[in-house]
Amino acid sequence: MSLPSQKLGNLDRMETASIDELRHEQLQRLRWSVAHAYTNVPFYRKAFDEIGLKPMDIKSLDDLAKIPFTNKSDLRDNYPFGMFATPMDEVVRVHASSGTTGKPTVVGYTQGDIDTWADIVARCIRAGGGSRGDKVHVAYGYGLFTGGLGAHYGAERLGCTVIPMSGGQTEKQVQLITDFQPDIIMVTPSYILNIADEMERQGVDPHKLRLRLGIFGAEPWTNAMRNEIEERLGIQALDIYGLSEVMGPGVGMECLETKDGPTIWEDHFYPEIIDPVTGDVLPDGEYGELVFTSLTKVALPIMRYRTRDLTRLLPGTARPMRRIDKITGRSDDMLIIRGVNVFPSQIEEQVLKCSALAPHYEIEVYKEGNLDCVDIRTELKPGTSDSSEIRAAAAKELAHHIKSYIGISTRIHVVEANSIARSEGKAKRVFDRRNP
Ligand code: DLL
Repeated sequence: MSLPSQKLGNLDRMETASIDELRHEQLQRLRWSVAHAYTNVPFYRKAFDEIGLKPMDIKSLDDLAKIPFTNKSDLRDNYPFGMFATPMDEVVRVHASSGTTGKPTVVGYTQGDIDTWADIVARCIRAGGGSRGDKVHVAYGYGLFTGGLGAHYGAERLGCTVIPMSGGQTEKQVQLITDFQPDIIMVTPSYILNIADEMERQGVDPHKLRLRLGIFGAEPWTNAMRNEIEERLGIQALDIYGLSEVMGPGVGMECLETKDGPTIWEDHFYPEIIDPVTGDVLPDGEYGELVFTSLTKVALPIMRYRTRDLTRLLPGTARPMRRIDKITGRSDDMLIIRGVNVFPSQIEEQVLKCSALAPHYEIEVYKEGNLDCVDIRTELKPGTSDSSEIRAAAAKELAHHIKSYIGISTRIHVVEANSIARSEGKAKRVFDRRNP
């Protein structure tokens, strides 16, 4: 599908390049990036030398498969700056993401990298229908997390007015949204729900606000959650994907005209899907683990980075570049319950099917003897009349959906409104107490 030509005027040249042109450019950029990593990062030189691979052996995009993978642990082993390809006096910014264990992963940017990143995030906001003159409320956290500053620089680059609110202070978020009347909000999907609850508490009707678009990412969220957010707030809800190791927010962005999964900005990040067990590259359309190779980054070139995110590559629609399907989860978030593989997003879908339940939930997994047990806590929707019968009926309905669609037995606790911890950034919804 192609866009009417008058709309193409605003887009970057590479956003509308033909597939042939794109592949040609990708190969040139890939060869530069591989040579840059090999020459300047001892980790890559060693990894290539060990298998006798030279940068000049990369003659086609298919040759990418010869390059060994990079894992999060490789960044940790080279903590803090060992993966950088430039001297520190060229690195103008670092960010870091804290994993669940051990040291954070540190990433770095030259001034040129920051500029490219701003251009790419500007492209994302434009893909969502944003333009110069829009006010953008940024409620992703500012700091070591890439969300806040990444969104901020991109919105400024597009010529928007940025409201750098950061995460937290939920009452104040609502006050500023009411007083400043932003057109666009950039925030995690779980935090927008918290903000929506706070609007309700303050008697603010979101449908009367100027807000028209939300750019949501940094955590998995389902299309059922999209519908919930769009209806509740009267806005368009689009998916932005990214990760610090590859850049930050904006590696991919859903286009407003199709709303069919983030377009990967392939002119900067080359995507592959691999079988997470064998490491084999899978054809487009098959589900597996997303892997990225940076094509233009200078301070931290990254070769075949294993994201652990599970999805598939789909053909381009609004742009010629490929899209990803909704991330179903991370391979490290997958729960194995009595032998059944379960992703939290599957539970989310079922919670959202129950009309009496709010979209807040927590999943707790533990052992009773040798058996895995799952407790799910959810709340009644605000405004639903509360009685033990209503709660019991909602719990029964959810348990039934989960049993029939996912195949596991669960204990459902429909708890008092507002008793489930609210997110101010990335939500923590799973508590697996089986492996202390
Ligand atoms: O979360 C960057 C970001 C900020 C993306 C703001 C979008 C918006 P990290 O903290 O390094 O970076 O976490 C990256 O978050 O590997 C995914 O597991 C998850 N993630 C990010 N975006 C999405 C999304 C930022 N749209 C990790 N859907 C990634 C699902 C996402 N998961």
